[in-house]
Amino acid sequence: MSDLFDFDVRKDQYAVMGNPITHSKSPRIHTLFAQQTGHRLEYTAIQVDVGGFSQAVGQFDAAGGKGLNVTVPFKQEAWQRVTERSERAERAGAVNTIKFDGNKLIGDNTDGVGLVNDLTTNNHIEIKGKRILLMGAGGAARGVLAPLLAQQPTLLVIANRTVDKAVELATAFADLGNIKGTGYDDLADQQFDIIINATAASLQGQLPNMPDTVIAADACCYDMMYGAEPTIFMQWAAEHGAAKVLDGLGMLVEQAAESFFIWRGVRPDSLMVIKALRAELSR
Ligand SMILES: NC(=O)c1ccc[n+]([C@@H]2O[C@H](COP(=O)([O-])OP(=O)(O)OC[C@H]3O[C@@H](n4cnc5c(N)ncnc54)[C@H](OP(=O)(O)O)[C@@H]3O)[C@@H](O)[C@H]2O)c1
Repeated sequence: MSDLFDFDVRKDQYAVMGNPITHSKSPRIHTLFAQQTGHRLEYTAIQVDVGGFSQAVGQFDAAGGKGLNVTVPFKQEAWQRVTERSERAERAGAVNTIKFDGNKLIGDNTDGVGLVNDLTTNNHIEIKGKRILLMGAGGAARGVLAPLLAQQPTLLVIANRTVDKAVELATAFADLGNIKGTGYDDLADQQFDIIINATAASLQGQLPNMPDTVIAADACCYDMMYGAEPTIFMQWAAEHGAAKVLDGLGMLVEQAAESFFIWRGVRPDSLMVIKALRAELSR
């Protein structure tokens, strides 16, 4: 592990920890942020063995690291590991950003604000007063619930293959807004203005089992996954009349921008980086 932390001591050190980690775009994104803002920093990707996360964080801290992003499968472990949590991280039950501040390890979760910023700022989609369908009840869904509800939609329905998990999540966030948990079969007579795919189904080339009728006129459909080609969910949305179809590349860059702001106190121009990554994806 020691050669993993063979730092260039003249630059502040940041990293993303996960397993697997080879395909992470975070080093590229933060390098572009650093170039753009003139900050001297180095950002690397570190693959950590399952069971070795806590030790890896301690070693990174001891080596003088300034901040970490945390991804699958360590976000819940990171939540346990930090010494303080932001309110949104507390609520999400998961930490994707750690700031090392003296003896303190401050945990935050920027996934939700990343999604909301991509929807509202980058794509001009108003959430207030809208009906939202959030498909999936895993870590990603949990992380975005509080920031979505803070935008005051009239209704947020969580639908999940394992219905109990959707109902549990809805109960846990019921104090923050009008939220319900359900299965896909119960969506037959409902329509939504914003439909977010937070399942891992697109990764497997599959669609969640939602009825085709859930898309309201003028609806926006958003897949948290992204790639060089539209995902199967995006293709389904376009075929069934969605007015706007988006992938999760903007969310990825926006959550990184919020992490950068937490660490460096400067907000980078995320649109420029989204554009650069989009061009690189299609090469
Ligand atoms: N763009 C971004 O910045 C960003 C950030 C975070 C996550 N993501 C993406 O979000 C997705 C979910 O991540 P996660 O961390 O929440 O994963 P997770 O915790 O493993 O949860 C997976 C969810 O997907 C559901 N699911 C899996 N396969 C399915 C299928 N074939 N049909 C219907 N539902 C299915 C699961 O349902 P059950 O409960 O029934 O198993 C569960 O609700 C991933 O694609 C990830 O890449 C993107």
